[in-house]
Amino acid sequence: LHEETVDVVFVDREGKRIPVQGKVGESVLYLAHRYDIDLEGACESSLACSTCHVYVSTEYLQKLPDPDEREDDMLDMAPLLQENSRLGCQIILAKELNGAEFTLPKITRNFYVDGHVPKPH
Ligand code: FES
Repeated sequence: LHEETVDVVFVDREGKRIPVQGKVGESVLYLAHRYDIDLEGACESSLACSTCHVYVSTEYLQKLPDPDEREDDMLDMAPLLQENSRLGCQIILAKELNGAEFTLPKITRNFYVDGHVPKPH
């Protein structure tokens, strides 16, 4: 059985590029976990956190379905929100995303909750 795959790249918090092979139909969060990439996903894809926040390379942003209202509400609570912010658990890999890059923000909400001080930069 030949599964359809897409090649995408994660950029981790240190700026390191990690090329990975995703499967069509899986979420970006799930893919990150398969490759041990440090994307949190505290609520296990139930749109109740924002720790799966990623930046989508802008040329691929328009290929994604618009975020629904719940995703938007959650994103509003994510630190370091940008125009190209999305929740990784809501991005489902499709063929069109071949070549996309997903960048991890420097901090996620749980850093605040846990009382860590984000590194200045
Ligand atoms: Fe919590 Fe994505 S894992 S909103």
